[in-house]
Formats: sequence, C-alpha cells, structure tokens
Amino acid sequence: MDLDQLARTAAAMVQPGKGILAADESSGTIKKRFDAIGVEATPDNRRDYRELLFRATDAMKNYISGTILYDETIRQTASDGTPLVKLVEQAGAIPGIKVDLGAKPLPFCPGETVTEGLDGLRERLTEYSGLGARFAKWRAVIDVGEGIPSWTAVTANAHALARYAALCQEQDVVPIVEPEVLMDGAHDLDRCATVTEFVLKTVFRELYEQRVVLEGMVLKPNMVIAGKTSSRQASVDEVAEKTLMVLKRCVPSAVPGIAFLSGGQSDEEATAHLDAMNRIGGAPWRLTFSYGRALQAAPQKAWSGKPDNVAVARRAFSHRARMNGLASMGQWTKELEERVA
Ligand code: 13P
Repeated sequence: MDLDQLARTAAAMVQPGKGILAADESSGTIKKRFDAIGVEATPDNRRDYRELLFRATDAMKNYISGTILYDETIRQTASDGTPLVKLVEQAGAIPGIKVDLGAKPLPFCPGETVTEGLDGLRERLTEYSGLGARFAKWRAVIDVGEGIPSWTAVTANAHALARYAALCQEQDVVPIVEPEVLMDGAHDLDRCATVTEFVLKTVFRELYEQRVVLEGMVLKPNMVIAGKTSSRQASVDEVAEKTLMVLKRCVPSAVPGIAFLSGGQSDEEATAHLDAMNRIGGAPWRLTFSYGRALQAAPQKAWSGKPDNVAVARRAFSHRARMNGLASMGQWTKELEERVA
C-alpha cells in the first residue's frame, strides 16, 4: 500500500471548487432514468449519453474532480474509438469504478438489505486498476422505518464497507465509503440524525477494525434530512447545521473529505444544502458533492436521446456542475442559479 499515493488521490477528489460526477448507474437504474425521458436503454444509447457528459469540456475540466463509472462504461469506447475512461482522463478528471454488486435482502431482517460483492473483489480491483480506475465506490443502503434499521443490518453493512475499503487500499485504489440512509419515509429530521449517527459511528468502528487508513479514503454520506413524506420539512439552515453536527460527532478529522450523495433531493436543494454547510465553515474535512441525480437530471431531460440536443444538454450539465462547484466553496447564490448560462 502506498499511503502517499492514496492520500494524493483522495485530496485531488475533494479539491476546492470541484466534486465527483456519479455516472455509475447500474443497467437497471439507468433504464429507469431513460424510461423517464423516453429513451431505450441499449448499450449504444448508454454509451452516447455518457460520452455526451464526458465530452462536456467546461463542466469536466473546471468542476469535476472524478467520475464514477459502471462496469459496462469502463469497457466501452466512444463513437470515434477512444475508450470512455480515456475521455474522463483527457478532461482532467480521475476515473473511478462502482464495485459493489448491489443491495440484496438480508435474511431474518424484513425490509432490510446488505450490499454484496466481496467475493472475488481483489481480482476485480486488479482488473479495474489496470483499466485506469484510481478510486472505487461501494454503496450500503439503510432504510428508515418502524423498527428499522436493525443493529443486524447496520453492522452487516458497515462490516462489508470496511472489508471493501481495506481491499481497495491494498491496491492503492481510494475507497469511497458510502453508507446511505434513505430519504424514503415519513420520519423527521431528528430521526434521520439519530440513525445517521448510529450508522456512521458503526462504519468508523468497522473501518478501524479492518485497519483502513482514514487519510486514504473519502466518505460519501447522506445529508441529515427529513423523510420525503414527512409533514415537517426542515429549512436549508437546519439541514446544514444538523448534518455538520452529526458528522462532527462521527467522522475523524484524518478523513480528507466528505462528498455527499444527493439521494433524491431536487437539484437546487442539493446545491443549497452543500453551500450552506460550507458557509458555516470550520469543518476539519473538505465538503463537496458526489451527485448522480442532482447533476444529471437536467442534462438527461435536455438530451432526451436526440443528437440535436447534445449542445443544450452539455450546457445544462455545465450549469449544474458550476453551481455545485461554487457550493463546495460556499460561494453559490440563488441569483447565479437563475442566471442561466
Ligand atoms: P445520487 O446523487 O443520485 O443519490 O447518486 C449518488 C450515488 O452514487 C448513489 O450511489
């Protein structure tokens, strides 16, 4: 393990003004996104769409530090024969790879899942590293409901995250550790705070037990937010304050950066929340984004599968990337948001 290299990569992933593009939707998830814009989910359409993003030079060069790819994407070539992973590198962003194999039902824990994919992971990491991946991602999913999450599900998921992170670091691949407490449900902000604190404390205990070096990882958590159907939605400032409070209780300052997931927030909410946290300041880690939906919803809609729409889709992507880049420094404003490029 080369700790200097891991720390350098992790620092580059969370550098000021930039964040991570999560373009690692599995074939099932991207089908859902394509269904919504009336595009057939074929390998070529997935390729064309991702090529559109990776060739959006303004967004990629200026606001995107790294891009998470999916297994299919890291092997695909652009229409002119250039590997897609090279397009990401040429744009100045670091290529990464989703390595988990998805959340599967956890026995004896109704309504809960554990993320699978540890078997054979060392060999898959070797291959991905050879293809150009310098960081990886593993997502654990924690549902909030009556009587859940259970201790069983949280510890099983935290253990798998830590095993994955250690295997990554063994091969000088920076692990993005993503324990996502879902926004689904009617729970309030405080319940999300309690669950998130329990999850993060458990994750860091397991990381310690598996000897993961905190300087060489990036945490990708949910923000502390009320459930989607909660009757009391919190203000931007409440979300920012509660999220920082929970993170400070749980995340050692040796971790170089925290790159949030958007998790179903609207584009503007995801940006406003990140901005508010950076305006409060005083955090020991860099706070940035690793958004999937909150970066891609606008370009996907603008594109809608039509080659004629590529330029406008790229502009929509650039705008979102720029707004989030500003938010990562606490410099976003509503006025800039509305002044469409
Ligand atoms: P969202 O920002 O859409 O939640 O996606 C981020 C991600 O990578 C989920 O694993």
